[in-house]
Amino acid sequence: MIEPQKIVPISFKINGRTVSLEVEAGETALHAIRERLHLTGAKEGCGIGECGACTILVDGKAVNGCLMLAAQLDGTSVRTVEGLAEGESLHPIQQAFLDHHAVQCGFCTPGLIMSTVALLEEHSRPDRRTIADGLSGNLCRCTGYKQIFQAVEAAAERKKENTK
Ligand code: FES
Ligand code: FES
Repeated sequence: MIEPQKIVPISFKINGRTVSLEVEAGETALHAIRERLHLTGAKEGCGIGECGACTILVDGKAVNGCLMLAAQLDGTSVRTVEGLAEGESLHPIQQAFLDHHAVQCGFCTPGLIMSTVALLEEHSRPDRRTIADGLSGNLCRCTGYKQIFQAVEAAAERKKENTK
């Protein structure tokens, strides 16, 4: 007989809003965010930590939502791609991805954008190698990465100008 999973109460911040959930002990953070909170920006690609489509920021660090347990979100502050735009205005990184045609099918895009947020918070002027390292956990099958790198460089430049 299959034992029912233990239910774990958790409370955390997501995109600035505090939420309380009851999750199953073995449930992933990605599942809780997508299925319980209906924030479907983070995607499930591989489900085993290989593709980065599920990337979210937890306490400022880019993590694979598919590898983290929902119970581990308790007490954290989470950011997802849904928290970036302000009203009708896209976040500068989102705008740079659009401007540089770094989006084709779009499945990888939310994860890449969240990894870029983390990257640019750590490195204000990343060179190509730093960008490649920062995005090494995010796979894109469509773009060939050139446009993505250009978008990240443009977003870094814009961020620098805005902080002058
Ligand atoms: Fe999480 Fe692929 S779905 S890394
Ligand atoms: Fe299709 Fe990246 S745009 S996987």
